[in-house]
Amino acid sequence: MSEKAASKVSLEKLVSLCQRRGFIFPSSDIYGGLSGCWDYGPVGIELKRNVKEAWWRAIVQERDDMLGLDTSILMNSKVWEASGHVTSFKDPLVECKNCHLRWKADDLTENKCPSCGGELTEERLFNTMFKTFIGPVEENASIVYLRPETAQGMFVNFPNALSTGRKRLPFGIAQQGKAFRNEITTGNFIFRSREFEIMEFEYFVKPGTDEKWFDYWVEERLKWYIRLSIDKKHLKLYPHPKEKLAHYARSTTDINYLFPHGWAELEGIANRTDFDLKQHSAASGKSMEYFDDETKEHYVPYIVEPSLGVDRAIMAFLCEAYDEEPDKDEIRVVLHFHPDLAPIKVAVLPLSRKENLTAFAKDIYTALKPCFTTQYDDTQSIGRRYRRQDELGTPYCVTIDFQSLEDNMATIRERDSMNQIRVPVAALKDTLVAKLAGEDLFILPEGGKIWKQE
Ligand code: GAP
Repeated sequence: MSEKAASKVSLEKLVSLCQRRGFIFPSSDIYGGLSGCWDYGPVGIELKRNVKEAWWRAIVQERDDMLGLDTSILMNSKVWEASGHVTSFKDPLVECKNCHLRWKADDLTENKCPSCGGELTEERLFNTMFKTFIGPVEENASIVYLRPETAQGMFVNFPNALSTGRKRLPFGIAQQGKAFRNEITTGNFIFRSREFEIMEFEYFVKPGTDEKWFDYWVEERLKWYIRLSIDKKHLKLYPHPKEKLAHYARSTTDINYLFPHGWAELEGIANRTDFDLKQHSAASGKSMEYFDDETKEHYVPYIVEPSLGVDRAIMAFLCEAYDEEPDKDEIRVVLHFHPDLAPIKVAVLPLSRKENLTAFAKDIYTALKPCFTTQYDDTQSIGRRYRRQDELGTPYCVTIDFQSLEDNMATIRERDSMNQIRVPVAALKDTLVAKLAGEDLFILPEGGKIWKQE
């Protein structure tokens, strides 16, 4: 089987599901869209927040050696001159002499237009930073760039972090935020866009220990994906050959994922050495040195940087979760999200729209809503509502039937096993909290009734 065929879902199916269920829409949809820009819908935004939250928790909150930051998108242009972006953040562009489509030369395997087979122009370099102007006058002195990465905001804040963060090396600064790149070609859904989000951190280390920390972070980052239910068979490390390294990097290893269009970069981990801090120190005249009070040395730290596109992570989690399972005479489409990532944790579904049942179900919904992202749905047949929640990746549905009115019990239906268990309404919240945290609180004795495990 080819590597392409091994992806769990085709791009067409993924895009269709995302649009149908309110995960992701083309930007400016009613005007025909805007190439390389996407909008997250009501379900997509919950997924996005959960992905960012899972990263922030693992990288910032659960560690003692990390500081968070949120820097501005627009920065002094001198930042981008010093960083090398004004001169080097360029892609080789070729244009078809026949149909005038433009291509990134690196993406082409043959020297002809992939669309019409026409002859291509010579390569020219194209800076992919978006330019705009600050203030009312559009002149060279007022040019500013939309940041193409969040990293520079962290480098230039290194002295602030040192003076206020009370950290000793090694420590890191982490940030999440929008980035913009005027990509020559976009495509493969949200994989390569012109406006996207990055989550990345700069880990400052003593020179000489950088390779050790680089290896450490490659391992840690791999573990993060696996913990969130990505099969390690779908992840592969790609160490960059020396001649292909970015202008700032001593070494780079990508974590590649098996996307529907094949193996491609999910996250890059770079050893940026002291390049960035030294560049900014020289250009600003400000010291970027660290004083090591144990060895009494002054030095400019080296930096290890794991950098991940939020949207690429979302695409990988969607692909990984996607499954089509035979169910009676039909196919059940289900997203097996890790509970931490699932956009909706619980759906409350009364069996019918009879007033006494919906009132009972709404009380349960109101009680659960402050604890989890919960949906209430009383439309259509129960089977169709389960299918809908499966496609949203909701781990648990709570079903209320007429017997519930008598015995004060509700049914929890599990997304993955489709098992149904009956629990006292008073125990619903605690049960769901425990189950979402990965505990199995219930046993399923013969006969199908469920009791809480003692
Ligand atoms: N600060 C380092 C840096 O920006 P990068 O490899 O250029 O490194 C980091 O970008 C990550 O951002 C990539 O691994 C990828 O996940 C994501 N990314 C880059 N360009 C993107 C684009 N046009 N659309 C969506 N995600 C992108």
